[in-house]
Amino acid sequence: MKIANLEFQGNVFLAPMAGITDAPFRRIVQHFGVSGLWTEMISAHAALKSRKSLETINLVGHSVPTFFQIVGHDPEIMSNAASLLQDMGASGIDINMGCPARKVVGSGSGAALMKDLSLAGIIVEAVRKSISIPLTVKMRSGWDDRSYTAPELAAIVEQEGADAIIIHGRSRSAVHSGPVSSEIIATIKSRTSVPVIANGGVNDAHDAVNLIAASRCDGVMIGRGALGRPWFPKMVLATLQTKEKDLVDGTVSDTILQHFHDEVETFGDQVGVRRMRKHLGWYSKGFPRGADFRFTVFRETNTETITRLVCNFFGKVAIS
Ligand SMILES: Cc1cc2nc3c(=O)[nH]c(=O)nc-3n(C[C@H](O)[C@H](O)[C@H](O)COP(=O)(O)O)c2cc1C
Repeated sequence: MKIANLEFQGNVFLAPMAGITDAPFRRIVQHFGVSGLWTEMISAHAALKSRKSLETINLVGHSVPTFFQIVGHDPEIMSNAASLLQDMGASGIDINMGCPARKVVGSGSGAALMKDLSLAGIIVEAVRKSISIPLTVKMRSGWDDRSYTAPELAAIVEQEGADAIIIHGRSRSAVHSGPVSSEIIATIKSRTSVPVIANGGVNDAHDAVNLIAASRCDGVMIGRGALGRPWFPKMVLATLQTKEKDLVDGTVSDTILQHFHDEVETFGDQVGVRRMRKHLGWYSKGFPRGADFRFTVFRETNTETITRLVCNFFGKVAIS
């Protein structure tokens, strides 16, 4: 699949998730296989003000195309941030028009742009002019179930120069639960000529097959399906390419340790351990005595002890 002139191996992408898709998580997903990576959202305003907010754009070891996602509402600030991020090595820029958080929509950013289509168009136009790399827009189906503005917004962003549209098939009011509308995605796909990537509710390889069949979209983006399962995008890729699912091998504990050591190396012991806790929660979900493991490991701060606890708990369990 291609977005503008950028070629991807396959059509399965990792979704941006704030506080989760940091560089170590992106690297562990890429280790198994994924077509492209999206960073968590970066406030355009903060990107121009402080280097701290740019922590997530560490591109060390990234070998697949990586899009940096920006969020904001001021066209000039958005375009300056996009240009800065292009200079920092982004493969592409993505504009967040789907974040439902009160703080974000309260300032007129994220999903609030689904209610202000003219500002959304002005932002895309300004960002388009400031960068030469591919530009995508990630949106929802609409603001709420009385206002499905995505088809209209998609037409505007395409006209203003977006190279692909990513559509999370839920409205802002649904936040992250409930059914995903493949109909809205299909409508957008039938009316646009740029690639359309569908997102939402892909937790099993067959969800991806069904979503693509129902919407005729060009690719899928996976969010929570990859939590505690960084190998999942690769399984979806293998299924879509009709290869055997068991192309993914290795053990759960080796995966966790590789991920953990990267978090610690990237952020230092203290922050790395803290950042890893939520992942340990997801990795251990569904395992017998997982609650006991979490009770112990969440209190531990020593990296060697955590390594030992992971080895003891997960043993040689294979990825499945
Ligand atoms: C904890 C969390 C953080 C998220 N952060 C972002 C973000 O920074 N930018 C964005 O566009 N979407 C964000 N999302 C939405 C996801 O990218 C995705 O659209 C949503 O989870 C639906 O996909 P899924 O059902 O595969 O999880 C976030 C979702 C979660 C659960």
